[in-house]
Amino acid sequence: MKYQGTGQQLDAPSTYPERLSADVMAATLSRALSGGLICSSDDTVVFYDLSRLDLALDALKRAFPSTAIHAVAVKANPSVEVLKRIRSAGYGVEVASMGELHLALAAGFPVQAIVFDSPVKTSEELEAALKMGIRINANTLGELTRIDKLHTFLKSRSPVGIRINPETGKGVIDVTSVAVQHSKFGISLRECRSVLAAAFSEYPWLTGLHVHIGSQGMSLDQLLDGIAAVYDFSLDLKDHVEITFFDIGGGLSAQYKESDMPAQFDEYATALRCRCPGLFDPDLYLITEFGRSLHANCGWVASRVEYVVEHGDGSATLIIHVGADMFLRKAYRPGDWHHDISVCDTTGQLRTQPHRVYNVAGPLCFAGDYLARGVSLPMSVREGDYVLIHDAGAYTFSMWSMYNSRQFPAILGYEENGETFHLLKERQTTDDIVTFWSTGGTR
Ligand code: LLP
Repeated sequence: MKYQGTGQQLDAPSTYPERLSADVMAATLSRALSGGLICSSDDTVVFYDLSRLDLALDALKRAFPSTAIHAVAVKANPSVEVLKRIRSAGYGVEVASMGELHLALAAGFPVQAIVFDSPVKTSEELEAALKMGIRINANTLGELTRIDKLHTFLKSRSPVGIRINPETGKGVIDVTSVAVQHSKFGISLRECRSVLAAAFSEYPWLTGLHVHIGSQGMSLDQLLDGIAAVYDFSLDLKDHVEITFFDIGGGLSAQYKESDMPAQFDEYATALRCRCPGLFDPDLYLITEFGRSLHANCGWVASRVEYVVEHGDGSATLIIHVGADMFLRKAYRPGDWHHDISVCDTTGQLRTQPHRVYNVAGPLCFAGDYLARGVSLPMSVREGDYVLIHDAGAYTFSMWSMYNSRQFPAILGYEENGETFHLLKERQTTDDIVTFWSTGGTR
């Protein structure tokens, strides 16, 4: 293993734009409405800014050495059209299920650009991935045993790594913090250090290390501590094992509030280089798996106000067409998540001052289906207006729930603030819903 280098010269870091403002979103909505891209059945539309994604990807690429493989997490945004754009710009993908693997293949990713992570890979799935030569990160010692039975027998070319849990602890959000004791993700470095070292000696095909400690609410120091713990372990191995790749996972936070100050890719890479210089050695494949930090600020949602329900205290509830079906985490753990909300009239003009207090409720049949309670929004919201939900490009529509069998909305991609639009996904039809819940087979 060659961990001594300090890495090659990098391009100057590119600047990454501010979050999309309500004005810019409103102007884009207005263009989509006047261009006839939204019809009366489109009670909700997801907007996705493809130009912004290009900038985010570019900022990522410039921050790290050119030899790094950036495997964008499919779970954050599985739109095949978005994946195709990521592929054609030369990036890779991280997949965590056979469904995601097939999305990656459908988007045209070559097998060398795919990283297969999942805590629950079956022997059949491992065999399929090994036959294709896809890079795999094993999650347990049991998975290593299964891979051992297959790798040599299949003469596989799959590079294989092992996910390590450095147990560096929780970030701000419990349910997205995975580097904790007895986590289902990865093997405890504290408990299994010597077993892991023995596995590297025993399995010649085991040449990679993987660490991902959480998503949103992990500080830069926590990310670095987790990676550094695994990096230090790799230095222990270096005399008898060749490590060919080191996968640092994702986990860089996105900005959801004006006051959020997440680290940018260049800041992260600079700090990582200081802490773990060997990761920047040109002979090592450094892999990243970012999702949220690339996608969250590219997407937003416009949902029509169907009813305005006035309350005796002067407040009102807006009933719109999206709620816990798309914003699961916001509805179930409102304290952990935030989305700014704005309102436009029926033509896409932003409504502004003066404000009063509203609740924003979704369409589903349960009492927790709220996107916001007690928020200040413009006084004069009317039926037919659009509620804009900001920063919704990651882990929103990808976590879609079929409860109440509502139709998944259209996803409209756009470039240059709506100069051009591209339909990324058509709205689900009621026939699609019937197909989803029908037998569809004869077993
Ligand atoms: N790599 C692995 C192995 C992961 O599990 C994840 C996310 C990522 C990369 C990408 O992490 P990112 O850069 O997007 O933070 N809102 C969701 C978040 C779950 C994140 C899961 N893993 C939820 O509440 O379930």
